[in-house]
Amino acid sequence: TTTAPGTRASALHTTAAGLVGDGTGILAADESIATMSRRLSDAGVSPTEEHRRAYRELLVTTADLARGISGVILCEETLHQHVTDGRDFPTALAALGLATGVKVDTGTVPLAGAPGETITEGLDGLAERVADCAARAAVFAKWRAVLTIGHGTPGAWAIEANAHALARYARVCQDVGVVPVVEPEVLTAGSHPLEVCAAVTRRVLATLRRALDEAEVDPAGMVLKPNMVTPGSGAAPVGPDAVARATVDALTATMPDDLAGVAFLSGGQSSVDAAANLAAIRALPTPWPVTFSFGRALVTPALAAWAGDPEAVGAAQAALIREVGRNVAA
Ligand code: 13P
Repeated sequence: TTTAPGTRASALHTTAAGLVGDGTGILAADESIATMSRRLSDAGVSPTEEHRRAYRELLVTTADLARGISGVILCEETLHQHVTDGRDFPTALAALGLATGVKVDTGTVPLAGAPGETITEGLDGLAERVADCAARAAVFAKWRAVLTIGHGTPGAWAIEANAHALARYARVCQDVGVVPVVEPEVLTAGSHPLEVCAAVTRRVLATLRRALDEAEVDPAGMVLKPNMVTPGSGAAPVGPDAVARATVDALTATMPDDLAGVAFLSGGQSSVDAAANLAAIRALPTPWPVTFSFGRALVTPALAAWAGDPEAVGAAQAALIREVGRNVAA
């Protein structure tokens, strides 16, 4: 605990660069207990603690996962569970050459003063919780803020409050020596055109940038996890080139050049669409490495293939490897 500040900064830089480098991405397997339970039920699996554990075990014990994945984000429940042979999850991940991350926000609640909008909670006791995750071998963390496009939303108050929380979280993580993955997600729900998502995303990112600067968060020791700029899920889709142009414009207009990297969320896009959009984004010049931090776009076929059947673990792992392969940089 007497690490010199310079040493700590350089360790953060190395960890952050490792998460986004070499074309590899991050696997988001950190669904909350409620969300994971719903996804299991939808796949016909009873939503027990043991089934959540078994499903995460099949993901993190996939041979060769490290060829396309640098790190896996777990939820706190999984951090405290064990794989069948008795190792804890971070130990199992490390054996495959994968870094452990943990979602440390505690979810969204209605934001007072902003009807229909949310604030992400989890700041109380955060330094102690992040330190506990670090003691369990986590080297990075995640916090997700959610902004919704609608009539008059997101409003200035929701954008400011969520940016403030993200910046406080990021600064706490860096002080503990853990790389923050900073996720300001503008949801795709709605029938708005791409231009509206572009304007909202730009405003959200510009506000976040100001908050990160005020908190003196080191950009080279963090990873940004933004949405891609797309039309609403209820609007006519546009091609990957238009998505890529608008996405890179929003990011380069707002983010510092020394950011460690950008790792996109998939936000409910199909795995094929998410991969095509990511490839088009990567084809454009950016000052930072660009990769994926997908949840659904990587794991949905694996969950369907497994569906709770121990005999189907191999088929599920093959499905995961196929989706990862789709997204690794050529
Ligand atoms: P999706 O890629 O399914 O949007 O999930 C990524 C994530 O971590 C959301 O917080």
